[in-house]
Amino acid sequence: MDISEFLRRADAVADAARAALAALAPDTRPDAAKGALNAATGDELAALRAALPALPHADRRAAGQAFNRLNQAIAALVEEFEAAQRQRATAPVLDLSMPARESWRGAKHPVTLVIEEIEAIFRELGFSVALGPEAEHAWYNFGALNFPADHPAMEMHDTLYLGDETLLRTHTSPVQVRTLQRFAPPVRVLIPGNVYRRDFFDATHAPAFAQIEGLAVDEGISFVDLKATLAEFARRFYGGTRRVRFGPSYFPFTEPSAQMDVEVDLQDGRGLRWVEILGCGLVHPAVLEAAGLDSERYTGWAFGMGPARIAMSRHDLPDIRLLYDADVRFLEQFAR
Ligand code: PHE
Repeated sequence: MDISEFLRRADAVADAARAALAALAPDTRPDAAKGALNAATGDELAALRAALPALPHADRRAAGQAFNRLNQAIAALVEEFEAAQRQRATAPVLDLSMPARESWRGAKHPVTLVIEEIEAIFRELGFSVALGPEAEHAWYNFGALNFPADHPAMEMHDTLYLGDETLLRTHTSPVQVRTLQRFAPPVRVLIPGNVYRRDFFDATHAPAFAQIEGLAVDEGISFVDLKATLAEFARRFYGGTRRVRFGPSYFPFTEPSAQMDVEVDLQDGRGLRWVEILGCGLVHPAVLEAAGLDSERYTGWAFGMGPARIAMSRHDLPDIRLLYDADVRFLEQFAR
């Protein structure tokens, strides 16, 4: 081999290396790429290296430099190939043909919406919101509320007891007493919160549910205040033309006690119908005394209602469990 053949074959090896790498798929793994490069250039590189010492002395220096340049050129090609691969791996993949993901927003639960509407109406009527504990002392839940010692609601089958004297409150009425202990009349509060009863979970009962309590205590409060305020609430909540009626009822902590019905059209083709929406009454003097108030000086009225029941009658729901299932297909119908 003479020097001109050596240089020509060295150029050819560089071309072969470039062609071998260009023929590879861009995602070829580095070891596979090196294998392909070796297959295309290895034999010829070995032949050239072996030919070097046999060249005439005068040509050897030029041939050696050409051989080094060839090796550097191949190393540069490999580096270029790997750099392109690294860039592909980190480049963001932007696929403009991909369908956009549908956006969705959260919405409030139908019972939450009822509670907030009722709060807003009573706020306009001068009530503020008060809260109390769900884990309650039996005295607040029953004793202070004038329950007789043998009242059936206190028994194990109705109440979830936490200890001898502590329980999960069965209604929001204990917050009446807590509020009256803390704030001197005039008191006008709305008390939303969860309550618990040892009931079966069926179409009309849930062992945990929301209540909204209302309480107004001042000098000179009478049943007229109760009727006027609750009738005004019903007009605002159900619409101005709705009729309300009061019927007799019984609670240990109110005297007299009543229930309020509203005439509603459930849009089910059956027209107007009376629906009971709350229990109410004048606060029993024993409750005022238990809270430390002079029952000769102060009187008051109170009510309690179940916003889940109201949501059910409003939307004509057949089963209370729908409100607990967290099934988006059901809940999204009420999203606003
Ligand atoms: N606490 C009663 C219940 O849970 C409702 C009620 C509250 C009735 C206030 C009268 C006055 O059924």
